[in-house]
Amino acid sequence: MKFLFALAISVSVVLPSVQAAKEVFAHVIVGNVRSLDNADWEDNIKLAQEAKIDAFVLNIAQGDEGNEASLQTIFQVAESLNFKLFFSFDYKALGAWPKEDVIDHITRFGASPAYFKTDDDKLFVSTFEGPDNAGDWADIKATTNSFFVPDWSSQGPVVAAGLADGVADGLFSFDAWPNGDTNITIKSDLEYQDALGDRAYMMAISPWFYTNLDNPDFTKNWLWRGDELWDTRWAQVMEVNPDFVEILTWNDYGESHYIGPVREKELGLFDTSAPIPYVENMSHDGWRKFLPFYIEQYKTGAAPTEFEERVAAYYRTAPALACPDGGTTGNNADFNEVEQPPQDFNEDAVFYGALLTSDEGVTVTVKIGENEQTGTFTTFPASGAGTAGVYRGSVPFGGNSGDVVVTVSRDGQVVATAEGGKPLGATCEFDIQNWNAVAV
Ligand SMILES: *[C@@H]1O[C@H](CO)[C@@H](O)[C@H](O)[C@H]1NC(C)=O
Ligand SMILES: *[C@@H]1O[C@H](CO)[C@@H](O)[C@H](O)[C@H]1NC(C)=O
Repeated sequence: MKFLFALAISVSVVLPSVQAAKEVFAHVIVGNVRSLDNADWEDNIKLAQEAKIDAFVLNIAQGDEGNEASLQTIFQVAESLNFKLFFSFDYKALGAWPKEDVIDHITRFGASPAYFKTDDDKLFVSTFEGPDNAGDWADIKATTNSFFVPDWSSQGPVVAAGLADGVADGLFSFDAWPNGDTNITIKSDLEYQDALGDRAYMMAISPWFYTNLDNPDFTKNWLWRGDELWDTRWAQVMEVNPDFVEILTWNDYGESHYIGPVREKELGLFDTSAPIPYVENMSHDGWRKFLPFYIEQYKTGAAPTEFEERVAAYYRTAPALACPDGGTTGNNADFNEVEQPPQDFNEDAVFYGALLTSDEGVTVTVKIGENEQTGTFTTFPASGAGTAGVYRGSVPFGGNSGDVVVTVSRDGQVVATAEGGKPLGATCEFDIQNWNAVAV
C-alpha cells in the first residue's frame, strides 16, 4: 500500500496527463458583487493580473437573481482585458442546480473568449458541493465539452473520485485550514492525489478564516488558525505540486479570507447579519505581495531569480483578551473538531515575511506606535538561508499600540517596508473581539 501510494504521487507529477495544468485561480463569490460596476471589475482584474492569477472562479448560487447582470459585466470586462473566468456552480448556498440550467450557463458563457479552457479546448467547470447531482454530469460534460473538477469535499477523496462512475476529470478539495493550534499539513492533499491517480488535483489555499454571521438563514461563528497559514501553505503547494491551485478567496468577506480589495459597497451583509463590521478597513492587500514569486515558482518548479524584494505583514487589531470573544470558537464541532478558546489559536503578534534574494546582512525592525522591536527570521525558504525566497518571523504585540510599520534593511539601507494598515489598538473597537486580520 505504501509503495502504491508513493507511486501514484510520483506518476501524477511526472506524466503531464492533464492539459493546461499549473494554473492558479481565485474564487469569487458572485453573490457579493451586485453593486460592482465596470470600473470596479477593471480594478479587480488588473490587481489579479499583477498578482499573476490566471483566472477567477465564479461561484454562482442557483437561482440568485443578481447573477445574470453581474456575469454580463464581469465577462465583458474580462474580454476587454484578456482575462479568464470559469464557473463554480454552488449547490449548497441556495440549493441544487437543475441540469438544464447548468448546461445553459456553460453554453452561453462558454462562447465568450474569456471563458477558461484547457489546452485541448474543454471548458473548465467546478462546483461547490453537489455530490447528490453527480449523475447529471455525464450529460452536462457531453453536451458542453467541459473539463469537470468539482469540489465534493463532504464525501472525502475516495468516494468523490468514484461518484457517478468517476465522472469527475479531477477534484478540488476545500480543505485549506488547519484543525487546532497547529500548522496545516498536506495529508489530505496526498490522499486526494492518491485517490485520483492520473486525474487532476486542484489544491486549495487560503490566508485566514473568521466568520461571525447571524441571520434567519444561518448562524456561524468560528475561526480556524490563520497564523503562518498563507506562506506555510504556499510552501506546501511546491511540495504537493498539484495540477491546479485555487485561492480561497478573492472576495469572501463573510469568512475573512479575501485577498482582493475591500470595497465598502460590497459589505452590505455586515449591516444586516454581523454583530460587528469585522471587514471594514481591514485590508488584506499584503497577501498579494508575494504571489508573482510563488506562482512562478509553482509553475516552473524553481525559485525565480528576477523579482522585486518586498515585505508583508499581518496582525489582528487588538489583543485577544482586550474584550469578550463574542462567542467565537476556535474550530467547529460540525467538522468533528474539538472546539477551543479562539485565543489559543491566533497569537497577539505581528507576523512578517520578507521576499529576498538572500537574508545576508538583513535586519528587521517592527514599530508599533512609538515602540520599536528588532525582529528575526525563524522560517526560511526551502532552499535554506542565504537563498532567494520568503523569510518569516513575528514579534509579540507586547502591550504596544499604534501604527504598525515593518522595515527590512540590508547593510543599513532600507529594502522594503510594510505599513499603512489599520492601527493596532490597545483596546477593542467594538464590544466583542474582531478576529479578522489586517495584511499590509
Ligand atoms: C508552523 O510551521 C513553522 C515553519 O513553517 C514553524 O516555525 C512553527 O513553529 C509552526 N507552528 C506550529 C504552531 O506548529
Ligand atoms: C473606516 O475608515 C473610515 C475612513 O477613514 C472611517 O470613517 C470609518 O469610521 C472606519 N471604520 C472602521 C470600522 O474602522
